[in-house]
Amino acid sequence: MAHGGSGTAVGAIRLTNVAKEHVLASGERLRVLEDISFELADRSFTSILGPSGCGKSTILNLIAGLDSRSSGQISIDGARIGFVFQQPRLLNWRTVVDNVILPLEQQNFGREAMRALAAKYLRLVGPAGYEPYYPLQLSGGMQQRVAIARALAIDPDILLMDEPFSGLDEITSRKLRQELLRIWQETRKTILFVTHSISESVFLSQQILIVSAKPARIFKRITIDLPYPREYGDLRLFEIETQLTKDFLEMGNSASDV
Ligand SMILES: Nc1ncnc2c1ncn2[C@@H]1O[C@H](COP(=O)(O)OP(=O)(O)OP(=O)(O)O)[C@@H](O)[C@H]1O
Ligand SMILES: [Mg+2]
Repeated sequence: MAHGGSGTAVGAIRLTNVAKEHVLASGERLRVLEDISFELADRSFTSILGPSGCGKSTILNLIAGLDSRSSGQISIDGARIGFVFQQPRLLNWRTVVDNVILPLEQQNFGREAMRALAAKYLRLVGPAGYEPYYPLQLSGGMQQRVAIARALAIDPDILLMDEPFSGLDEITSRKLRQELLRIWQETRKTILFVTHSISESVFLSQQILIVSAKPARIFKRITIDLPYPREYGDLRLFEIETQLTKDFLEMGNSASDV
């Protein structure tokens, strides 16, 4: 591993017949995930694509151990997990740099090494020069980029990303997608990336899991066998996108949901 790792790179994930039900305050049961099974090879890049409210964040939370499943099995190849939440979830009383180093503090890094790592990842994803700022002094998109730097700085084996670029302008998100792919290729993390955007999922992924509306099931699994680096405007990507859009319509979701 690049820094302070615990051994060989691992990162395979397997979900088998996972279901999740929330019990609401009224006592009503809300079934969110029905029968989710999939396998992610270590070092693979997979996107989960599905309509709003179908249970995508729930799947990531279960994998990260932040929520408990109602039934089924989840097995993770003993790895360090980085999580970019749908909301930045920064600590408002800590500066940008101190937010990025927060997960490093639990490991054996010296102060200077932590600051160097934070600076490195803040330079990569931006916003550079904002290290001494507090989160509430940043825009929403800038906060999200700090959250991405925080997740990358621990050099995770598994990186869970929940719509990380959805609040960013197109130019910035294009740059960050390319940067993410470069980091993935260099460090060979397993990445599970949640998005609403068909074109984003096609540009990034080796595999796409299309998830149906709540209760979520895996509606379709698509493999994208195109080499990296990929180019925006590549007709082959466009063709896959067109097919995926048809799949969505077939699934019965309105276009505005995706
Ligand atoms: N703690 C909870 N208690 C009760 N219901 C919950 C809880 N967390 C999530 N839900 C419900 O589970 C469903 C799926 O939520 P989830 O956040 O996983 O959707 P999502 O696919 O990530 O949506 P979006 O694309 O809008 O982010 C929603 O109906 C939501 O209201
Ligand atoms: Mg979500």
